[in-house]
This record gives sequence, structure tokens and C-alpha cells, in this order.
Amino acid sequence: MKQIKAIIRPEKLSDVRSALEELDCYKGITMTEVLGQGNQKGIVRSWRGEKYEIDLIPKVCIELVVRDEDVNRIKDTIIKNAQTGEVGDGKIFVINIDEVIRIRTGEEGLSAL
Ligand SMILES: Nc1ncnc2c1ncn2[C@@H]1O[C@H](COP(=O)(O)OP(=O)(O)OP(=O)(O)O)[C@@H](O)[C@H]1O
Ligand SMILES: [Mg+2]
Repeated sequence: MKQIKAIIRPEKLSDVRSALEELDCYKGITMTEVLGQGNQKGIVRSWRGEKYEIDLIPKVCIELVVRDEDVNRIKDTIIKNAQTGEVGDGKIFVINIDEVIRIRTGEEGLSAL
């Protein structure tokens, strides 16, 4: 099992969500509003001639734990729907998951997904 953790632009969330729902290969999903910083370490804006820097930019973090064989399809779908080609499009991390336990029943492994 793998965890896919994708940090994307908030305005891309609804496209990414509907595309993932259509794929029909995940059982659960967690979404969080986050603040982050990438390579560029923020952006410079100006207001009434004054320049100021915003170093933490709002993003959305999507987390799903899925079967190994579904990782590539999910990854490709996120890229297709979250990409603008501009800096700040986000990042996808793929993380090994050792165990999943459904608290209600105590089931473990794939059947607990
Ligand atoms: N190495 C990292 N570790 C943890 N979070 C990261 C990392 N890189 C990016 N992020 C998260 O992803 C968000 C978007 O990153 P971003 O797309 O700007 O990455 P980047 O490496 O700067 O790529 P680009 O050059 O395309 O902007 C960041 O605001 C941060 O929340
Ligand atoms: Mg960046």
C-alpha cells in the first residue's frame, strides 16, 4: 500500500477531485488546507507602490492510501488536472504504508482500506 500525498493549487481542487472520483480507485481521502513554500520561497506582491513578500502560500493537501497497482493512474490523473505549467503547481509524494487498521472492526491490511 502507498500513501499519495499531493500538494496542489486550491483552485485546482475541484477538477482533481472529480477526476479522482471518476477513476473510482480509492476508498477514502483526506483533504487539508495548508500553507507552504517551495523552491521560490514565496512571492513578491505590490500594493500601492509598496512591495511586500508572501512567504507562505495557501495550498491544498490531498492524501489517499491506495493499492500499489493504482498509484500510477492516480498520479497521472492528479498531474493532468493540477498542472498549469507555472511555478507553484505543487508536488506529489508517494510514501510506503506499513499497515492500515479499521478501528470499528479491527480489520488490517488491504481489506481495511
Ligand atoms: N520538498 C518539499 N517538502 C515539503 N513540501 C513541499 C516540498 N516542495 C514543495 N512542497 C509543498 O508544495 C507546495 C508547492 O510547491 P511548488 O510547486 O512551489 O514546488 P517547487 O519545487 O517550487 O516547484 P516549482 O518550481 O514548479 O514551483 C509548497 O508550497 C509546499 O507546501
Ligand atoms: Mg515553487
